[in-house]
Amino acid sequence: MQIRKAVIPAAGLGTRFLPVTMSVPKELLPIVDRPLLQYVIAEAVEAGVEEVIIVTSSGKESISDYFQPHPIIEQRLTANGDDSLLAKVTEAGNLAKVSFVIQHEALGLGHAVLMAKDAVGDEPFVVILPDDIIAHSPGAISQMVQVSEKMDAGVIAVEA
Ligand code: UTP
Repeated sequence: MQIRKAVIPAAGLGTRFLPVTMSVPKELLPIVDRPLLQYVIAEAVEAGVEEVIIVTSSGKESISDYFQPHPIIEQRLTANGDDSLLAKVTEAGNLAKVSFVIQHEALGLGHAVLMAKDAVGDEPFVVILPDDIIAHSPGAISQMVQVSEKMDAGVIAVEA
């Protein structure tokens, strides 16, 4: 069965990156001009994922805001004819269908994934931690999906 859904836990407290995470969620910290979250969503899409469920929490609304249209910025870029920047601005919202579920208390990673149970339903899915970026082509998720299909089993990537 094709893997169409990804769950991205993003409701943690980000204590190891304090104090910056008091103002910016860890999952939105940038590498060059894009937040971490965007890199892992792109990696999931490359692996065939169509729907991304982000587990977030109150106080981290900037995560869902990031995926909303930004009409004032988009109108300005359109008026300026800045098509390449406009494409970058709309990229995150166009990568995949993105939805959000809330984890009301940061009770750990397993609990965060459980919060996405109803949104995932009864089908295989990937879980991606947005604070581990693996720069490789083909992406780590693509490789894991391939192994999962070949072995007809769940696959876990570990970091040594
Ligand atoms: P981490 O342990 O790296 O994130 O969890 P954290 O808990 O935010 O970080 P520290 O330890 O306090 O510095 C990996 C991913 O799981 C999410 C985090 O947001 C991160 O993306 N997570 C963690 C949840 O969604 N809920 C939790 O209760 C814990």
